[in-house]
Amino acid sequence: MRIAGLFAGIGGFELGMHRAGHSTELMCDVLPAARAVLTARFPGIEYRDDITRLRSLPAGVDTICAGFPCQDLSQAGKAAGLGGERSGLIGEVFRLLSRRRVPTVIVENVPFMLQLSGGNAMRAITDEFERRGYRWAYRVVDTYGFGLPQRRERVYLVASREVDPAAVLLADDRPLQRPASALGVLAHGFYWTEGLGGLGWAVDAVPTLKNGSTIGIPSPPAVLMPDGSLIKPGLRDLERLQGFDADWTQPAETVARASVRWSLVGSAVSVPVAQWIGRRLEHPGCFDPARDAPFPASGKAPRAARFDGRRRHAVAIGTDPLGLRPPALADFLTDREGQTPLSLKATLGFLGRTRRAKLRFAPGFIEAVERHALELGGCPPPKAASPQLELLQAA
Ligand SMILES: C[S@@+](CC[C@H](N)C(=O)[O-])C[C@H]1O[C@@H](n2cnc3c(N)ncnc32)[C@H](O)[C@@H]1O
Repeated sequence: MRIAGLFAGIGGFELGMHRAGHSTELMCDVLPAARAVLTARFPGIEYRDDITRLRSLPAGVDTICAGFPCQDLSQAGKAAGLGGERSGLIGEVFRLLSRRRVPTVIVENVPFMLQLSGGNAMRAITDEFERRGYRWAYRVVDTYGFGLPQRRERVYLVASREVDPAAVLLADDRPLQRPASALGVLAHGFYWTEGLGGLGWAVDAVPTLKNGSTIGIPSPPAVLMPDGSLIKPGLRDLERLQGFDADWTQPAETVARASVRWSLVGSAVSVPVAQWIGRRLEHPGCFDPARDAPFPASGKAPRAARFDGRRRHAVAIGTDPLGLRPPALADFLTDREGQTPLSLKATLGFLGRTRRAKLRFAPGFIEAVERHALELGGCPPPKAASPQLELLQAA
């Protein structure tokens, strides 16, 4: 297949599709740092920046890959028809489809997309594909089941006028059990920037890598290692946790601060997921219609669904198409040079938030974080205040 990679970022979609044997005709991303990575890693491929200035797609393109920015999703919820002028960046994809009826489109986004505007954002997108004569299927998929120790659920949607999208996205289902917490035995990833309303906690994996902020303030997770050390993994390991080679985003440093690389990695499509879709596009599998269930007319959209050309169905299927067990996180993190201990300030800040939160933590977890603070020479904040202590503090 010949791909147009829209909102290509650092090329997670494109790299996966190449590994599945496809090629790219055009890549488009507005960010100079993304451009630096894409032009270095995919030399000789036509590059465009702002999609709104792209008049049409090259004649040879038969597949669009588009992991459009999630900030833009709310527009889709509001838009009456996505071909219109004010329908945001996903609307740009439909504008380009109006100019050239590309047979297959693959879209990726965050699972929140399914509940946005009470499910209307997702319905607006699927309605638009149906109106244009596409069948579609979508599914929430977790990177973890592709052999990478990162918990990362994303919605992948395939719309096609040629292949049956259900035979691409909904043919494989190998549920993989997630390990139970085992401090001292397995590594545990979590967001040290949280701790109040949630934790972003993952056993023997890192939680979803995030894009941080667009000005490149890095937001990597912390990992409590089996030996009790508390570290922040290095960038090279985070690149590998998305399926890229270490240093894939190095070229970004020619035009931007090194920290921008963290957010580029956090917003990327995981390479092996794209590779699986690419392989299935070439060799579709068998969808079992016994998985079909009624599609809700309103409210939150189901986690997997399809449109067979006549009717929509919800689909009962899990998040692990291939069920590939990842290596232990502690073994996966090999970039020792890039690792840093979680700083005392960050550790104390995290502990302080947990003291005010009503969250429940795995037994022994908070004590392990406290030990780390003590080792760095700090004093952990006092435990949940007793009524007397609260009175004293009030006085
Ligand atoms: C969620 S990221 C996509 C990541 C990509 N799929 C990958 O694997 O790295 C969204 C991308 O859309 C790009 N973008 C935002 N506005 C754009 C525009 N007007 N034209 C082209 N790209 C744009 C951003 O720079 C960002 O890289």
